[in-house]
Order: sequence, then C-alpha cells, then structure tokens
Amino acid sequence: MKKIVVEGGKKLTGEISISGAKNAILPILAASVIGANESTLFNVPNLLDVTVMEKILLSLGLNIKRMDNMMWIDSKPLSNINIPEKLVREMRSSIILMGAMLARTGEVIISYPGGCEIGPRPIDLHLKGLKELGAEIVESHGFIHAKAKELKGCEIQLDYPSVGATENIMLAATKAKGTTVIRNAAREPEIVDLQNYLNKAGAKISGAGTSVIIIEGVDKFIDVTHNTMPDRIVAGTYMIASVITGGEIVIKNIVVEHLQAIIAKLKEAGSIIYDDKNSLKVIGPKKINSIEMIQTLPYPGFPTDMQAQMMALLTIANGTSIISETVFENRFKHAEELIRMGANIKTFGRVAVIKGVKELTGAKVTAKDLRGGAALILAGLAAKGVTEVDNIYHIERGYENFHLGLESLGANIKKID
Ligand code: EPZ
Repeated sequence: MKKIVVEGGKKLTGEISISGAKNAILPILAASVIGANESTLFNVPNLLDVTVMEKILLSLGLNIKRMDNMMWIDSKPLSNINIPEKLVREMRSSIILMGAMLARTGEVIISYPGGCEIGPRPIDLHLKGLKELGAEIVESHGFIHAKAKELKGCEIQLDYPSVGATENIMLAATKAKGTTVIRNAAREPEIVDLQNYLNKAGAKISGAGTSVIIIEGVDKFIDVTHNTMPDRIVAGTYMIASVITGGEIVIKNIVVEHLQAIIAKLKEAGSIIYDDKNSLKVIGPKKINSIEMIQTLPYPGFPTDMQAQMMALLTIANGTSIISETVFENRFKHAEELIRMGANIKTFGRVAVIKGVKELTGAKVTAKDLRGGAALILAGLAAKGVTEVDNIYHIERGYENFHLGLESLGANIKKID
C-alpha cells in the first residue's frame, strides 16, 4: 500500500508551476469523441483520472498517442457504444460521455455511476436535460441505455448549476438540430475551456462562464489543437501549503482571475498575496487568523474542492472558524483524520466548527477522498513530528507528483511504496 510520509515544521519557499486542469481535460477528452476528427491536446496532467478516461476512449476504438503532457486522439475509428462498467465505477465523471456519444452515434450504454466518497452524486439533471433534447433513456439493471434518432435544440432550465449536467447537455447539443439554450448553467472556468476546445473544433457555442450558454447545432467538426487551462484547485492547494507553513512561495502558470475566492479567504486568514496576471506570491503569516464563515458555493463562490484544504489550515488558526459545505452532502470525512492529529473540529451535517489549536501532532491517517487526502498532507506539513497518509491513490487521481512538488519547495516528504 503506497503512503506519503511527511515530517512537519519546514517553511516552504521557492516557486512551483501548475499543471493542466483535471476538471477541464476530462470533459474535453469526452468531447473528443463527437467529431470523428483529430484532437492534439497540450498541458494534459499526468493523473489517474486522465488514464482512466484514456482507457475508456481506447475501449471505444479511438486511436490515442500520449507523450509526457501531450495527447493526440483520432476519434474517426469509433466502433463501440458500450462504456466499460469497471471504468465508469473507477471514475463517475465518465458519465459526461453520454452527451458526447449521443452527439456522435445517437446511442450509448453506460453503467450507472455509483455514488462516491463525497455523496450519492445523482445524475437526474443530466438525464432530464438529455431527454429534453430528444434522447430516449432506459435505466435497468444498473445500466443506462440512451438513444436519440435526432437531437433537437431546446431551452433547458437547470434546477441547480450542476457542472457535469451543464457539460453533458453542451456536448449533446453541439450537433443537435437548431439552437439550445441552457439557463442556470454552471459558470466554472473549466466550462469556458470546454467551450474554447469545442469552438476550435467547429462547434458554435457562446456564453460559457455565464449562467446562459447558447449552442447552435453544427454538422461537422474539424481537427483541433488545444492547450488545457491550468488547475485552479491544485494552485489553491499549493497556496495553502505556503500559508500553513508560514512560508513564501511563488505559484506560476495560473489564471489569477480563477483564484479570487481563494485569495480573498487566505488574505482574511492573514496571508500576504501579491499577484500579477498569471502568477502569485503567497506569504504565510506568523499567526493564522480564524475565519468567521466559509460557505462553499458554485463558481465564482468559494470552491467546494478547496474546502478540505481550508479546514486543514483553520485547525491551527487563532480562534474559531465555521465552514458550511453547501455543494456536497458528505464532504467532511477528512475531519475525523484531522482530529487524530489533534484538531478540534465538530461537524453538524453540512456545517463544521473548527476551534484553532496551538499545533497539530503527526499521526497515521487515511485519505478518504481526493481533496481530503491533499488536506491531510497539508496538515502534516505543519504538524509536529511525522504524519503518514495512506490510500494515496485518491490523491494521485487529481495531483501530479504532489509530494515531489512539495519536496521541491523544501518539505521533508517522501512517497513509500
Ligand atoms: C464537478 O463534479 C467536479 N468534477 C467536482 O470536482 C466538483 O467538486 C464539482 O463539479 C463542483 O464544482 C469534475 O469536473 C470531473 P455537480 P460534478 O454536478 O459535475 C448535485 C474534484 O475533487 N447534482 O456540480 O459531479 C450533486 O449531487 C471533484 O476534482 C444533482 O443533484 O458536480 C452535488 O451535490 C470532486 N443532480 C451538486 O449537485 C445532478 O444531476 C454539485 O454537483 C447533478 C448534480
């Protein structure tokens, strides 16, 4: 069982460059199925989730070449409409292949993506939107069989600005007859990156990044080259690594605009942050201020994917902080692990109350999900003594060599196989 071992107490200094965004490349890989064209993708992060999506595309018959952070996909030889159940279970966000497959072939069979560590993860909004576009969807024996003789553009009002549902509907609508309008769409930057990739491939989409996205159906896609946007959550995680250790690091290859909610909260916690368009200098304070209330919200609110990392920081703040997790049902599993390290946290449903303690102590802890695992490593950087984090495959789903990045900034950290 692989684990990360970190000895706390080192201030992080130096600079780090951020890799491509997991939550941008995954929908773009799904979208590469639509066009029977060639996609050349750069700044592709080396992550477990990307490898799972690559395996799924290969199982559909696509040709793929991958070298370092570059990926070339030829989706002309698509020969299968059945998404392998084992791979869907490994990565539930593969459900956005439904929209792409309906746009390409008009049919797809995919297993119901199980819930995951952070909640039941329903897909009702995905299915409702695809049905409104004309798909017939039969769910039986844990599988979804979706068919659409013809997809017709229509006006869709999302009950909740779901990222995945917005993406699934966008992908299906790219080749629907007529125009589709998605209202109350998710506004995440990753959806703008998906729009940019699709428009370069010949789609006609506008409004991504706002609550109203308009997709005019087209018949044909062309070959496309795309450079994946940087990962704002990986960037935010390194920002907190600097603040929690009282360090001073420069984070490069980022879009500062995407990080405004995180910058605001870290300034509230007392850190000094200098920014220019695509890099930040983050200086950790001697004493970390508690934060009265952090509420996770859809973008541009404070991101739920930064909630666990922020909780780790607040465990050693001066005073009591409150976190309200409004996006996912069960995303506090890291709290019990932080308590093993001496944190004082009480959770009440979707609300956590964190009473700052003088210092954390190293302990053996377990990663329960991707961002919770990263939060435990952050806590270990600041804890007195040695922390061992196991189940690190969760972390490897979303962080490319996280321990090497932290080591390059001076952390006393290693991965043990
Ligand atoms: C995407 O998940 C991200 N994953 C998540 O990142 C991120 O936390 C989430 O968006 C919110 O920003 C990818 O992009 C691959 P949602 P997604 O649909 O699309 C409910 C990470 O750590 N909902 O916006 O699954 C749902 O249960 C991951 O990188 C419905 O009720 O998020 C949840 O409570 C974790 N019905 C809320 O909406 C639906 O049909 C937000 O889900 C769809 C969603």
